[in-house]
Formats: sequence, C-alpha cells, structure tokens
Amino acid sequence: MLRRLHPDQPESFAFTPDNQKWAEAQITKYPEGRQASAIIPLLWRAQEQEGWLSRAAIEHVAGMLDMAYIRALEVATFYFMFQLQPVGSVAHIQICGTTSCMICGAEDLVAVCKEKIAKRPHQLSKDGRFSWEEVECLGACANAPMAQIGKDYYEDLTTESFATLLDEMAAGKVPTPGPQNGRFASEPKGGLTTLKDYTGEAANGSVALATRLGDTLKRIDGTEVPLIAPWQGVDEIKPVDSATIKAHEPKPGMVTPVDDTGVCKQEARAKTRAKPEAVAKGAEIDESIGTKPEMLKKAKGRADDLKKIKGVGPKLEGVLNDLGVYHFWQVASWGDNEVAWVDENIVGFKGRVSRDDWVTQAKALAKDAKKDS
Ligand code: FES
Repeated sequence: MLRRLHPDQPESFAFTPDNQKWAEAQITKYPEGRQASAIIPLLWRAQEQEGWLSRAAIEHVAGMLDMAYIRALEVATFYFMFQLQPVGSVAHIQICGTTSCMICGAEDLVAVCKEKIAKRPHQLSKDGRFSWEEVECLGACANAPMAQIGKDYYEDLTTESFATLLDEMAAGKVPTPGPQNGRFASEPKGGLTTLKDYTGEAANGSVALATRLGDTLKRIDGTEVPLIAPWQGVDEIKPVDSATIKAHEPKPGMVTPVDDTGVCKQEARAKTRAKPEAVAKGAEIDESIGTKPEMLKKAKGRADDLKKIKGVGPKLEGVLNDLGVYHFWQVASWGDNEVAWVDENIVGFKGRVSRDDWVTQAKALAKDAKKDS
C-alpha cells in the first residue's frame, strides 16, 4: 500500500502550549545527541492533537529534533499507526481484519462501516465526523471480532452492537470500551473455568482506566494528564516561553545532523557545511569534503545516458551535467574521496552516489557501452 502525504495540507502546525511542554520533556529522556529517538512519541502526540499527521506537523517535529525532514517523513510513512490523511472529527474506526476477527465476523463489521460511514476506507463520512479502515491484528484475538475506536478497544462485537456504538458516538456519547457481550476480559465465553472464586471489579483494568481518563475519542491537547517528568527531578514541567517554542519552528530545507556520528553519513557530513540548506541550482560548491573528481567542460563525443544508473532521473542527470559529469567511465573512475565529494555536491540529491552504488553500476555500464561501440 502506498502511503503518501495528503494532497490538501494545512499551512502550519503547532503543538498546544501543554503539548509543547510535554514534547520537550519527552526529548529530555534521551542522551545528548540521541534526541531523534523521541520521533515516535512526538509524532504520535501531534496525531493525538490533530487526528492525523500533516506535512507541517511532521516537519515541525523534525525541526524540534534537529532531524532532516526526510528522516521524519520516513518514520511517518512507514508506520501504519500514523494517519496521513484527515480522519473523522468524532472517530476513526479501525476494524481488525486478521484471522481470528475475520472468521468471527470482521467482514460484517466492515459492511457496517461501508453502510454507515463511507464506501471506502480512509474516506470521510458525508458529515466529516467518521472514517474507518481495516487494520492488521490488534492483539485482542480472544475477543474477536474487535475494533479500535479512538484510543480504546471495543471487543466481542456483533453487527448490532457495533452499529449501536456508532450511533451512540454520533449522538455525542462515548460508549464504555472493552467486551460488548458481558465478558469481563478474555475469559471463556461459557464462563470461568479456573480462578472461579475471583469476584472481580465492575470492569477490567483497561476498561476502568479508559473510563477514568475518558479520552477515548478526545483530541489530546496536553491538559488531560499531569505533565510530570520525574527523570528531570520535577513533578511538573515548567512552562516554556513562547521564544523557546519559536526556536523550534522548522526552517524550510533544514538538513542538520542529529549528532557527531549522525544517523547516517549524509547527516553527519551535513553538519560540516556552512550552508546546509544550499541545494538549489548554482548553490555554493563545498570543497571541504572529499576530493573533486576530474570534470569535463562538455561531453567527449556523445554523452552517455546517465539515467541508466539506477536512481538517476532526468533532473539529477542535468545536475550531473552541470557539474561536468557526462560519461559512465567518469563515474566508474571515482574512489571513496570522489564519491564523498559528489555525494555532497549533487544539489538536491545528496548521498545518492554511495546509497545507490553508482560506481559499480557505472563500471558495468561503461563496459557495455564499450562493447556496443
Ligand atoms: S485477529 Fe483481530 S485482534 Fe488479533
């Protein structure tokens, strides 16, 4: 399944002041230079706040963590838990469609979604209040079929009980999560066979907590739970001033490394650049990294079709030509130092030479070209 950013994007994103404080506290969990480890909790909080992850939100989080935008995009587009398109303003329903749920009636639940919400997954209902999707096993197989609605699980569903849940949500109520057939947890349907003298509470621990927090369908703005950061030796995080928040605003095209070793070589090298965002045509050439290979003023005879190198498209071919690269034999002759130089100076495509191993590719292409001539 292709996971792309939604075509309609908001102009900007900002955490609420409380979420901003929460996010900044999360970052302090990690050692200096490893702040990027907070990427998932921060993206998740952004989604909890907005319902989905916009490009602006992803870039904002990347900015807070000093990560290249592409790194944050890689995370957001990889994990299915991140919604890359707007979801229903009241609820986004996730129906488990894996084996246990499937054989216990997940398809019937999907049919209810199609009838009550929208024909297709990830499509908003007409009033924009609901959306749905089918997901893989949510780990509540003993209570199949089930759905995650908002932050909680609704289990042991039937088409009737599920339809009623949706109606209640549409009416502004938040139905109690957990098993919907009277089971306490995941004991046998016929009743307990062991630990029979356990009288139990009114609801199992998960349901009790969900009921107490009451945030099943709520967008999280940071005011719900106390903001504590015990690892900082404080019970309550001090408010940050607006100047601090502003300092975290992402800058367009910002490419900064996470630390000295870098998450990848490309990011580590980026730290040494005076102008890391200089990626447009005519950008300043950085001579400080690697060794500049021998370049040509023009092609010797007919230029090779550099697009035959995997990962090189028409635009990148133009960039290479601008630098003075026209032939496979040129690329094939590069050693590590030359690769490092070109990696740094192919505007807008940094790191591609090593990533796609152009030298090996070019050696094979140069050989073929020789045979053909
Ligand atoms: S198969 Fe549905 S929760 Fe595991």
